[in-house]
Amino acid sequence: MTSAFSVDPSVTVRVPAKVNLELGVGPRREDGYHGLSTVFMAVGLHDEVTASVSDDWQVEVTGPYAAHVPTDDTNLALRAAQALAALVGVDEPVALRIHKEIPVAGGMAGGSADAAAALLACDQLWSSSRSRDELSVLAAGIGSDVPFCLSGGIAIGSGRGEQLAPVLATGRYHWVFAVSDVGLSTPEVYAECDRLRGSAAVPVPEPSNGMMTALRSGDPEALGRALTNDLQEAAFSLQPSLREIVDAGLEYGALGGIVSGSGPTIAFLTGSPELALDLCVSLTASGVAGEVRRAKAPVQGAHVVTGPGRA
Ligand code: C5P
Repeated sequence: MTSAFSVDPSVTVRVPAKVNLELGVGPRREDGYHGLSTVFMAVGLHDEVTASVSDDWQVEVTGPYAAHVPTDDTNLALRAAQALAALVGVDEPVALRIHKEIPVAGGMAGGSADAAAALLACDQLWSSSRSRDELSVLAAGIGSDVPFCLSGGIAIGSGRGEQLAPVLATGRYHWVFAVSDVGLSTPEVYAECDRLRGSAAVPVPEPSNGMMTALRSGDPEALGRALTNDLQEAAFSLQPSLREIVDAGLEYGALGGIVSGSGPTIAFLTGSPELALDLCVSLTASGVAGEVRRAKAPVQGAHVVTGPGRA
């Protein structure tokens, strides 16, 4: 209850987007998912999720991509909050306010990021004090990328992407993202990857030496050369215009360019903040890319920024 001396509590969590530096896709498993070997990097494009005590479960979305986010019970942040409530035995609805800066359905884990943020915000709001490991197990049930959005930094993902292991890495990286508004659905991109492979035997992927060496060296040129994505050809096959965006960014001097996750966002690595700005200007002027964003990386995962649980 609100009094002259207290306000209804709320907790705000900031959470980053991700890019897959390497995405090795194995054969389709019996459960429909594909075994992966991936290297995630958390990048400085952030959503903020605020959880407040409320009479009903609700979601409100603000920011440039708000119109594209569902506010019904398919919303991943809402599903995450309700999963945590069920786990800890809380019968206390929350209102979730999502300020969305991460492109929606872009291959940057925007929905997963909001789910990770909602888990952390509700854990603080309800003082349920679950460990990061417990939250990570719950996160994996919501989506393959949700555990990484909690942890952030740089990590190897295996299983369907939800099993994380640390990577020896150094350096600060400067990314440019060409946010495309062509539609690509993640299940369709995986299905297209299977279709293009046909009956060819697909080995179980593992992290490449080139990527591990590049990350240890902190050298953006080496990292640019090491970027790979097994879903890229499938994304190009479904949306051929994406190839032109990659080619344009490389021509304008990017150290590497790749479809981010299942796309359609294209991620370009550059050598400095100034070169990132130059690339943004060139891509915008060329007209091949719609919206262009810059971000530094790596950044920390979901963390409380305001509210009773602020560290
Ligand atoms: O786990 P998430 O809900 O993000 O996955 C969305 C869809 O992407 C899955 O339903 C599946 O079709 C595909 N997927 C996959 N293999 C993975 C991860 C996702 O086939 N490792």
